[in-house]
Amino acid sequence: MFKDKVAVVTGASRGIGRAIALQFAAGGAKVVLSARSAQAVEDLAAEISAAGGQALAIAGDIALTADVEELFRKAGETFQRVDILVNNAGITRDGLLLRMKDEDWDAVLDTNLKGAFLCMRAAAKLMSKQKYGRIVNISSVVGEMGNPGQANYCASKAGLIGLTKSVARELARRNVTVNAVTPGFIVTDMTESLPEKTKEDLSAQIPLGRLGEANEVAQAVLFLSSDQAAYITGQVLGVNGGMYM
Ligand code: NAI
Repeated sequence: MFKDKVAVVTGASRGIGRAIALQFAAGGAKVVLSARSAQAVEDLAAEISAAGGQALAIAGDIALTADVEELFRKAGETFQRVDILVNNAGITRDGLLLRMKDEDWDAVLDTNLKGAFLCMRAAAKLMSKQKYGRIVNISSVVGEMGNPGQANYCASKAGLIGLTKSVARELARRNVTVNAVTPGFIVTDMTESLPEKTKEDLSAQIPLGRLGEANEVAQAVLFLSSDQAAYITGQVLGVNGGMYM
């Protein structure tokens, strides 16, 4: 399905990003794996190569312009093009508004929102020239609903939806689509640490009665990155078990 396509996935070392990278590789894409930990992305690249795929591991911080420029320079140099960008890297620094430190606000906005902006700006240069591109931004259901204790995170994820729609309008004439996926509660390292009782309470609020799997988010991302989704841009696709409609 993705033969000859080059896909850059940020935050690919674990969780949802890892699932997305593995599914792209299984679909025949050449995958560029970005995350903060060099060891983790190199291990994943080795795993993909061992299974017969092609992957390039590049460690860096997506909140830093220089690291992002380097990521896309190396991707372009190695594979000559970038067809797909998935802005998946994200962090949380939870706390109630009255106690939230400036550093916690800045760290979350820098990674989740500025990081996506930097990656889209760098990718758009290549995609505009190619007259082809698919960008998928991983937002969150709480960016749509709000969540106490996550003002910084929700602001970053809601901001990402506005960013998605603006860039979708800017790049449409270049045949570049830009969409957002808003996962609900997904079983990953981010949610694994929650107490069992909290997970049960969460499941009770979800019409489908369970947390989601990283692979289920990856399926939505692959669809929006495929040629089947050529006429879909500026949209927000919820993968949340029905918890927000
Ligand atoms: P995770 O914590 O398991 O993995 C995050 C990945 O992002 C790691 O690979 C990490 O190295 C990378 N990363 C973080 N900061 C970075 C930076 N500055 N530069 C480069 N890479 C960086 O997270 P998980 O759960 O897989 O989440 C992935 C995305 O999905 C995030 O954007 C998260 O906000 C979003 N999400 C997750 C949900 C969940 O329930 N797990 C629900 C809704 C959205």
